[in-house]
Amino acid sequence: MASVKLDASQPIGLFDSGIGGLTVARAIREKLPKERLIYFGDTAHLPYGDKSPDSIKYYAIRIAQFLLDNHCKMIVIACNTASALAFDTVKDFVGKRALVVNVIDPAVKKITDQPKFKRIGVIGTKGTIKSGIHAKKLAEANKSYEVHGLATPLLVPMIEEGFFNNKISRAVIDSYLSRPKLKKIDALILGCTHYPLIKKEIEAVYQGKVPLIDSADEVAEYVYQLLKKNNILNHSAKKPAHRFYVSDYTDAFEKNTNFFFNEKIKLEEARIWK
Ligand code: DGL
Repeated sequence: MASVKLDASQPIGLFDSGIGGLTVARAIREKLPKERLIYFGDTAHLPYGDKSPDSIKYYAIRIAQFLLDNHCKMIVIACNTASALAFDTVKDFVGKRALVVNVIDPAVKKITDQPKFKRIGVIGTKGTIKSGIHAKKLAEANKSYEVHGLATPLLVPMIEEGFFNNKISRAVIDSYLSRPKLKKIDALILGCTHYPLIKKEIEAVYQGKVPLIDSADEVAEYVYQLLKKNNILNHSAKKPAHRFYVSDYTDAFEKNTNFFFNEKIKLEEARIWK
Protein backbone atom coordinates (compact mmCIF):
# COMPACT_ATOMS: atom_id res chain seq x y z
CA MET A 1 0.00 0.00 0.00
CA ALA A 2 1.36 3.44 -0.88
CA SER A 3 2.57 5.40 2.11
CA VAL A 4 0.20 8.18 3.22
CA LYS A 5 1.71 11.26 4.78
CA LEU A 6 0.17 11.80 8.20
CA ASP A 7 -0.29 15.33 9.44
CA ALA A 8 -0.05 16.68 13.01
CA SER A 9 -3.39 18.50 12.66
CA GLN A 10 -5.33 15.26 12.07
CA PRO A 11 -7.33 13.92 15.03
CA ILE A 12 -6.71 10.81 17.14
CA GLY A 13 -9.51 8.26 16.79
CA LEU A 14 -10.45 5.91 19.61
CA PHE A 15 -13.01 3.17 19.85
CA ASP A 16 -14.52 0.87 22.45
CA SER A 17 -17.62 -1.30 22.78
CA GLY A 18 -19.25 1.51 24.74
CA ILE A 19 -18.26 4.38 26.97
CA GLY A 20 -15.65 2.54 29.09
CA GLY A 21 -12.95 3.56 26.61
CA LEU A 22 -13.55 7.15 27.69
CA THR A 23 -11.12 6.41 30.55
CA VAL A 24 -8.44 6.07 27.85
CA ALA A 25 -9.68 9.21 26.05
CA ARG A 26 -9.49 11.09 29.35
CA ALA A 27 -5.90 9.97 30.02
CA ILE A 28 -4.88 10.99 26.47
CA ARG A 29 -6.61 14.36 26.82
CA GLU A 30 -4.77 15.00 30.10
CA LYS A 31 -1.40 14.05 28.64
CA LEU A 32 -1.94 15.66 25.21
CA PRO A 33 -4.41 18.56 25.61
CA LYS A 34 -3.73 19.90 22.10
CA GLU A 35 -4.80 16.73 20.31
CA ARG A 36 -8.31 16.54 18.85
CA LEU A 37 -10.13 13.31 19.73
CA ILE A 38 -12.78 11.42 17.81
CA TYR A 39 -14.33 8.75 19.97
CA PHE A 40 -16.60 5.94 18.82
CA GLY A 41 -18.49 3.70 21.30
CA ASP A 42 -20.13 0.72 19.64
CA THR A 43 -23.10 0.72 22.01
CA ALA A 44 -25.20 -1.20 19.45
CA HIS A 45 -22.98 -4.24 20.10
CA LEU A 46 -22.10 -3.79 23.79
CA PRO A 47 -20.78 -5.89 25.51
CA TYR A 48 -17.85 -7.16 23.44
CA GLY A 49 -16.67 -9.40 26.30
CA ASP A 50 -19.05 -12.23 25.35
CA LYS A 51 -18.82 -11.96 21.53
CA SER A 52 -16.92 -14.30 19.21
CA PRO A 53 -13.53 -13.24 17.79
CA ASP A 54 -15.05 -13.12 14.26
CA SER A 55 -17.76 -10.67 15.35
CA ILE A 56 -15.25 -8.43 17.14
CA LYS A 57 -13.00 -8.37 14.04
CA TYR A 58 -15.96 -7.50 11.82
CA TYR A 59 -17.07 -4.61 14.07
CA ALA A 60 -13.50 -3.36 14.52
CA ILE A 61 -12.83 -3.09 10.77
CA ARG A 62 -16.02 -1.17 10.11
CA ILE A 63 -15.27 1.23 12.98
CA ALA A 64 -11.68 1.67 11.80
CA GLN A 65 -13.10 2.70 8.40
CA PHE A 66 -15.35 5.25 10.14
CA LEU A 67 -12.32 6.73 11.93
CA LEU A 68 -10.32 6.79 8.68
CA ASP A 69 -13.26 8.55 6.99
CA ASN A 70 -12.87 11.13 9.79
CA HIS A 71 -9.21 11.61 8.81
CA CYS A 72 -7.65 10.18 11.98
CA LYS A 73 -3.87 9.97 12.02
CA MET A 74 -3.99 7.32 14.74
CA ILE A 75 -6.53 4.71 15.83
CA VAL A 76 -6.44 3.69 19.48
CA ILE A 77 -8.32 0.48 20.20
CA ALA A 78 -9.51 1.66 23.61
CA CYS A 79 -10.96 -1.72 24.55
CA ASN A 80 -9.02 -4.67 25.89
CA THR A 81 -11.33 -7.24 24.32
CA ALA A 82 -11.02 -5.71 20.82
CA SER A 83 -7.27 -5.20 21.37
CA ALA A 84 -6.92 -8.88 22.30
CA LEU A 85 -8.99 -10.22 19.42
CA ALA A 86 -8.74 -7.74 16.56
CA PHE A 87 -5.52 -5.72 16.77
CA ASP A 88 -3.68 -7.56 13.98
CA THR A 89 -6.79 -7.48 11.78
CA VAL A 90 -7.22 -3.72 12.24
CA LYS A 91 -3.52 -3.08 11.71
CA ASP A 92 -3.54 -5.04 8.42
CA PHE A 93 -6.71 -3.29 7.29
CA VAL A 94 -5.48 0.22 8.11
CA GLY A 95 -1.99 -0.29 6.68
CA LYS A 96 -0.12 2.99 6.34
CA ARG A 97 -3.27 5.13 6.43
CA ALA A 98 -2.96 5.67 10.21
CA LEU A 99 -0.97 4.47 13.22
CA VAL A 100 -2.75 1.77 15.23
CA VAL A 101 -2.37 1.33 18.99
CA ASN A 102 -3.88 -1.24 21.34
CA VAL A 103 -4.30 -1.06 25.11
CA ILE A 104 -2.44 -4.28 25.88
CA ASP A 105 1.12 -3.57 24.67
CA PRO A 106 1.53 -0.51 26.93
CA ALA A 107 0.42 -2.53 30.00
CA VAL A 108 2.78 -5.37 29.07
CA LYS A 109 5.62 -2.88 28.63
CA LYS A 110 5.00 -1.50 32.11
CA ILE A 111 5.41 -5.04 33.50
CA THR A 112 8.53 -5.87 31.50
CA ASP A 113 10.10 -2.54 32.55
CA GLN A 114 9.98 -3.71 36.20
CA PRO A 115 12.47 -6.56 36.70
CA LYS A 116 10.98 -7.47 40.10
CA PHE A 117 7.58 -8.53 38.72
CA LYS A 118 7.31 -12.27 38.14
CA ARG A 119 3.81 -13.40 39.13
CA ILE A 120 1.29 -11.33 37.24
CA GLY A 121 -2.49 -11.29 37.75
CA VAL A 122 -4.82 -10.12 34.99
CA ILE A 123 -8.53 -9.38 35.28
CA GLY A 124 -10.72 -8.68 32.26
CA THR A 125 -13.71 -9.83 30.24
CA LYS A 126 -14.22 -13.47 29.26
CA GLY A 127 -12.98 -12.67 25.73
CA THR A 128 -9.77 -11.02 26.92
CA ILE A 129 -8.91 -13.70 29.46
CA LYS A 130 -9.77 -16.58 27.13
CA SER A 131 -7.46 -15.10 24.46
CA GLY A 132 -4.50 -15.41 26.86
CA ILE A 133 -3.05 -12.34 25.13
CA HIS A 134 -1.21 -10.95 28.18
CA ALA A 135 0.50 -14.30 28.87
CA LYS A 136 1.47 -14.61 25.18
CA LYS A 137 2.96 -11.13 25.00
CA LEU A 138 4.74 -11.50 28.33
CA ALA A 139 6.17 -14.86 27.22
CA GLU A 140 7.50 -13.21 24.06
CA ALA A 141 9.38 -10.74 26.26
CA ASN A 142 10.58 -13.15 28.95
CA LYS A 143 9.70 -16.80 29.42
CA SER A 144 9.79 -16.77 33.21
CA TYR A 145 6.53 -14.92 33.95
CA GLU A 146 3.76 -16.74 35.74
CA VAL A 147 0.49 -15.22 34.53
CA HIS A 148 -2.82 -15.79 36.32
CA GLY A 149 -5.85 -14.53 34.40
CA LEU A 150 -9.33 -14.30 35.87
CA ALA A 151 -12.46 -13.36 33.91
CA THR A 152 -14.50 -10.94 36.00
CA PRO A 153 -17.64 -10.49 33.89
CA LEU A 154 -19.80 -9.00 36.64
CA LEU A 155 -17.63 -5.89 36.92
CA VAL A 156 -18.62 -4.15 33.65
CA PRO A 157 -22.42 -4.25 34.17
CA MET A 158 -21.89 -3.38 37.84
CA ILE A 159 -19.89 -0.25 36.97
CA GLU A 160 -22.28 0.73 34.15
CA GLU A 161 -25.15 0.60 36.63
CA GLY A 162 -23.23 3.01 38.87
CA PHE A 163 -22.37 0.38 41.48
CA PHE A 164 -18.94 1.39 42.68
CA ASN A 165 -17.61 2.65 46.00
CA ASN A 166 -20.43 0.92 47.81
CA LYS A 167 -21.21 -2.25 49.76
CA ILE A 168 -22.24 -4.25 46.72
CA SER A 169 -19.22 -3.37 44.59
CA ARG A 170 -16.88 -4.12 47.50
CA ALA A 171 -18.46 -7.55 47.99
CA VAL A 172 -18.20 -8.42 44.26
CA ILE A 173 -14.60 -7.17 43.95
CA ASP A 174 -13.59 -8.95 47.13
CA SER A 175 -15.13 -12.21 45.99
CA TYR A 176 -13.20 -12.11 42.69
CA LEU A 177 -9.87 -10.97 44.10
CA SER A 178 -9.86 -13.45 46.95
CA ARG A 179 -9.60 -16.38 44.50
CA PRO A 180 -6.38 -18.31 45.27
CA LYS A 181 -4.86 -17.56 41.83
CA LEU A 182 -4.92 -13.82 42.56
CA LYS A 183 -3.53 -14.09 46.08
CA LYS A 184 0.27 -14.19 45.63
CA ILE A 185 0.90 -11.81 42.77
CA ASP A 186 3.50 -9.07 42.27
CA ALA A 187 1.25 -6.86 40.10
CA LEU A 188 -2.31 -6.86 38.76
CA ILE A 189 -3.15 -5.73 35.23
CA LEU A 190 -6.54 -4.01 35.06
CA GLY A 191 -7.37 -5.52 31.67
CA CYS A 192 -10.58 -3.66 30.96
CA THR A 193 -11.20 0.00 30.26
CA HIS A 194 -13.97 0.16 32.89
CA TYR A 195 -11.73 -0.82 35.79
CA PRO A 196 -10.02 2.53 36.46
CA LEU A 197 -13.34 3.47 38.08
CA ILE A 198 -12.88 0.79 40.74
CA LYS A 199 -9.12 1.15 41.11
CA LYS A 200 -9.34 2.49 44.66
CA GLU A 201 -11.53 -0.42 45.76
CA ILE A 202 -9.11 -2.92 44.20
CA GLU A 203 -6.20 -1.15 45.88
CA ALA A 204 -8.02 -1.46 49.21
CA VAL A 205 -8.40 -5.24 48.84
CA TYR A 206 -4.63 -5.58 48.42
CA GLN A 207 -4.05 -2.89 51.08
CA GLY A 208 -1.97 -0.97 48.56
CA LYS A 209 0.66 -3.76 48.51
CA VAL A 210 0.10 -4.94 44.93
CA PRO A 211 0.84 -2.39 42.15
CA LEU A 212 -2.07 -2.01 39.74
CA ILE A 213 -1.31 -1.56 36.05
CA ASP A 214 -3.92 0.79 34.67
CA SER A 215 -3.70 0.61 30.89
CA ALA A 216 -5.30 4.06 30.42
CA ASP A 217 -2.28 5.91 31.85
CA GLU A 218 0.19 3.64 30.08
CA VAL A 219 -1.59 4.12 26.73
CA ALA A 220 -1.45 7.92 27.02
CA GLU A 221 2.34 7.79 27.45
CA TYR A 222 2.66 5.28 24.59
CA VAL A 223 0.54 7.48 22.28
CA TYR A 224 2.68 10.50 23.14
CA GLN A 225 5.91 8.64 22.37
CA LEU A 226 4.57 7.27 19.08
CA LEU A 227 3.30 10.65 17.83
CA LYS A 228 6.61 12.24 18.80
CA LYS A 229 8.61 9.54 17.02
CA ASN A 230 6.54 10.10 13.86
CA ASN A 231 6.84 13.85 14.19
CA ILE A 232 3.06 14.38 14.24
CA LEU A 233 2.41 15.82 17.69
CA ASN A 234 -0.13 18.61 17.44
CA HIS A 235 1.28 21.93 18.67
CA SER A 236 -1.64 24.08 17.57
CA ALA A 237 -2.79 26.78 19.99
CA LYS A 238 -6.45 26.27 19.00
CA LYS A 239 -8.68 24.53 21.57
CA PRO A 240 -9.44 21.11 20.10
CA ALA A 241 -13.10 20.33 19.33
CA HIS A 242 -13.53 16.67 20.32
CA ARG A 243 -16.39 14.55 18.95
CA PHE A 244 -17.98 11.60 20.74
CA TYR A 245 -20.06 9.14 18.73
CA VAL A 246 -22.04 6.06 19.69
CA SER A 247 -23.64 3.57 17.32
CA ASP A 248 -26.88 3.44 19.33
CA TYR A 249 -27.82 6.49 21.37
CA THR A 250 -29.66 6.34 24.70
CA ASP A 251 -29.81 8.97 27.46
CA ALA A 252 -28.36 6.48 29.95
CA PHE A 253 -25.02 6.40 28.12
CA GLU A 254 -24.82 10.17 28.02
CA LYS A 255 -25.57 10.40 31.75
CA ASN A 256 -22.70 8.05 32.58
CA THR A 257 -20.07 9.79 30.44
CA ASN A 258 -19.29 12.02 33.41
CA PHE A 259 -17.83 9.14 35.46
CA PHE A 260 -15.60 7.95 32.66
CA PHE A 261 -14.43 11.23 31.09
CA ASN A 262 -14.61 13.40 34.19
CA GLU A 263 -16.72 15.91 32.32
CA LYS A 264 -20.24 15.90 30.91
CA ILE A 265 -20.06 15.40 27.16
CA LYS A 266 -22.51 15.36 24.30
CA LEU A 267 -22.86 12.04 22.51
CA GLU A 268 -23.84 11.96 18.85
CA GLU A 269 -25.23 8.95 17.07
CA ALA A 270 -23.24 7.67 14.06
CA ARG A 271 -25.54 5.24 12.33
CA ILE A 272 -22.92 2.97 10.86
CA TRP A 273 -25.01 -0.19 11.38
CA LYS A 274 -28.51 1.18 10.70
N1 DGL B 1 -14.40 -2.05 27.32
C1 DGL B 1 -14.30 -3.49 27.24
C2 DGL B 1 -12.86 -3.94 27.53
O1 DGL B 1 -11.97 -3.14 27.81
C3 DGL B 1 -15.22 -4.19 28.20
C4 DGL B 1 -16.69 -3.99 27.98
C5 DGL B 1 -17.33 -5.01 27.07
O2 DGL B 1 -17.41 -6.21 27.40
O3 DGL B 1 -17.76 -4.59 26.00
O4 DGL B 1 -12.59 -5.11 27.41
